[in-house]
Amino acid sequence: MKQAIYPGTFDPVTNGHVDVIKRAARLFGRVIVAVHEDSSKSCLFSAEERIRLVKEAVKGIKGITVEGFSGLLVDYCRRKGADIIIRSLRAVSDFDYEFQMAVINSELYKDIDTVFLMTDKRYFFLSSSIVKDVAIRGGDISGLVPPAVRGLIQEKVSLLRK
Ligand code: COA
Repeated sequence: MKQAIYPGTFDPVTNGHVDVIKRAARLFGRVIVAVHEDSSKSCLFSAEERIRLVKEAVKGIKGITVEGFSGLLVDYCRRKGADIIIRSLRAVSDFDYEFQMAVINSELYKDIDTVFLMTDKRYFFLSSSIVKDVAIRGGDISGLVPPAVRGLIQEKVSLLRK
């Protein structure tokens, strides 16, 4: 069986990500969701929080493991014996960045392939930044993120307001 890895920053995980995880599990059987711990993005959630939220979000989906990783993604893939990286595309605008990453990763590790899943049409508009922006401005994010994310964002937002 192929070992697939779905990497991301997941700051925070959204329903769009969860939909991709479910479909990846159906396609590949076993999927490691790998949360990038030392992201260069300035994250709202700590690495521990991001990992915990992904774990909550994938409860009940068979074949999924959630872990943090740091350093190069391809080194992590080698350590895990993974041969597939999963990424998702929402629109043409995602393509350049994703294509660049896929090419760099295959230059660094020739046995790895990147498989792109189209984001479900319900989530084309969704991003982690949009979720944070809506929450910070007091908007309703139910329907965009798993319940555990909603709870923790609301805690963070009320701390920011103090
Ligand atoms: N539904 C909803 N949103 C989605 C989505 C989907 N299906 N697919 C992507 N997104 C959004 C996310 O919400 C996020 O939004 P944001 O930009 O507003 O934060 C954005 O797309 C991408 O975030 P995410 O999916 O969390 O992944 P990422 O692009 O931050 O992940 C890594 C990048 C971690 C995979 C990459 O930086 C990496 O591999 N780093 C390790 C170091 C390395 O190996 N570098 C060399 C290779 S680049």
